[in-house]
Amino acid sequence: MRTARLALDPAFTVGPVPRRLFGSFVEHMGRCVYTGIFEPDHPSADEDGLRTDVLELTKELGPTVVRYPGGNFVSGFEWEDSVGPREERPRRIDRAWRSVETNQFGLAEFDAWARKVGTEPMMAVNLGTRGLQEACDLLEYSNHTSGTKYSDLRVQHGSKDPFGIKLWCLGNELDGPWQTGHKTAAEYGRLAAETGMAMRSIDPDIELVAVGSSSRSMPTFGAWEQTVLELSYHAVDYVSLHAYYQEHDGDAASFLASAVDMDLFIDQVVATADAVRAKGKHTKKINLSFDEWNVWYQTKPHHGPGVEPWDVAPRVIEDEYSITDAVVVGTLLNSLLRHADRVHIGAQAQLVNVIGLLRSEPGGEAWKQTIAHPFEQVRRLATGNVLQVVTTSDKYETAKFDAVDVVDASATYDDETLTVFLANRDQADSASVEVPLRGFGVDRVVNAKYLAAAEGQDRHTTNLENHSAVGLRTLDDVTVTEGLATVVLPPLSWAVVQFRKA
Ligand code: AHR
Repeated sequence: MRTARLALDPAFTVGPVPRRLFGSFVEHMGRCVYTGIFEPDHPSADEDGLRTDVLELTKELGPTVVRYPGGNFVSGFEWEDSVGPREERPRRIDRAWRSVETNQFGLAEFDAWARKVGTEPMMAVNLGTRGLQEACDLLEYSNHTSGTKYSDLRVQHGSKDPFGIKLWCLGNELDGPWQTGHKTAAEYGRLAAETGMAMRSIDPDIELVAVGSSSRSMPTFGAWEQTVLELSYHAVDYVSLHAYYQEHDGDAASFLASAVDMDLFIDQVVATADAVRAKGKHTKKINLSFDEWNVWYQTKPHHGPGVEPWDVAPRVIEDEYSITDAVVVGTLLNSLLRHADRVHIGAQAQLVNVIGLLRSEPGGEAWKQTIAHPFEQVRRLATGNVLQVVTTSDKYETAKFDAVDVVDASATYDDETLTVFLANRDQADSASVEVPLRGFGVDRVVNAKYLAAAEGQDRHTTNLENHSAVGLRTLDDVTVTEGLATVVLPPLSWAVVQFRKA
C-alpha cells in the first residue's frame, strides 16, 4: 500500500474557484460541429438542427464557457460567410484541416446553441489571414445594438438582440509554423495591441486574450510571451496557454505525471507575465487563459493516410479515451485548480468527437467518454475557495520527470463542504491518503466516488463498445476518526470525496 498525507487549512486559500475554469471548445474541425452538436437530419434534432441527445449530455457536463470557432480553423475563417440565409452561404476551403466548410452552422447558430446549453461564448477572431478591421466588423456585428452597417446586418439576419460576447481571443496559436498567417512575436504583439485597442473602442466591456505559446516545448516559449506582452500589456487581459499530453511508447508512468509539466508551464507563464509587469511598471496583472488542454494522441494522422482531403466533416482525431486518460485528465484539473489565483479561464479541447469529452455517431448514439467524468465532477463540486494543499506522498520514478508524487490532490471549501479531488498514479498498488479535517467543522463523508478499472477491465478500457463501461462508482473505503479522514484509493484511480458537518 502506498501512502500520502495532505496538509490543508481553511485559512490558507489560493483564491475563489474561477467559474470560467471549466470551459470547453467547439471548433469547425472534423465532426465537432457537423454530426457533433449540429445534425438537422438526426432523429433527435430540434427546430435549430441541434442534436438534443448531445445537447442534454453537454448540459450535464455544464461547460461554463465555450471557445469558438477555432483553433487553427479560425486563422482562415471569413465570418461573413457564416451569417445570413443558409441557402446563400458559400462552401469554402478550410486550409487548416483540408476539409470543406459548408457554413450551415455559423454565428447565430452558435449563439442559439450557447443559450440552450447555458454557457458563455468565447469568440476567437482571425488574425492569420485577416486583421484589425475584420475583427472590429465582427465585434460590431455581434455586440453593437443597431443603427450601423454590421449591427443592422445582424438584425436583418434575424438576431434583433446583440450576442453580447464578452470574451475574445486575439487569434489562435500564431507562434506555430503550422498556423495560417504564422507570425513572429513582434509582428503578433503589435497586431494584438492595435486590434485589442480598436475593439475596446467599440465595446469597452470586452475581455481580451493574447495568444501565448502552443505548448511549453515550443522553441519560442518564454521569449514569445515576453515580447508579445511587452507590446500588448496595456491592451489585453489574459495570455493563453495550450497543452496536449499523450502516452509515448507505453511509458504510462511519465504520461500519468503530465500535470508536473502543466504546473511548470503555468508557473513559468506567470513568472514571465509578472516580469513584464515589473519592467513596464504596470499595475494590473495579466491572468492566464488555458484555453486548449487535453489528452491527444498526436502520433496518429490528423489528415493524410486514411482521411481524404476536402470532405465535409471528416473523421479526424476521434481519440477514444481510456481509464488511464481519465486519471491524467483528473490530475490536469488538479493543476488548474492549484493555480486558480492566476488561471481564470480553461477550455478542455474539444467538446465532441474531435478529441472529445463526448462522442456521437451520425444518425446514431451519443455518449460520454471516460474523460468526461472527472471534468463533470470537478465542474459540479469545486465550490467556494480553492485551498492550498501540501501533499507529502510516496514517490515513483518516471523517465521524463524523475521522482513524482504517487498521489496528486486539490481541494475546495465553501464554509460548509470540504471537497478533495485525488488521483492515485500507481498502476499496481492502492494508496492510503490522510486528509486532516480539523478547522473545517466537518466530520462526515457525504459523497465519495471514484473511477478505476472494474472487473474484466484494464487501464486501456474505453467507452466505445459499452458506452457506460467506465464511469463513477461509490468509494467505500473512507473512514473518519478524530478529525482525520483516511481515503484508500484503488490502483490507477481518480476520486472525489466530500465532507460536511453531521
Ligand atoms: O484542438 C485541435 C487543434 O489543436 C486546434 O485547432 C489548434 O489550436 C491546436 O493546435
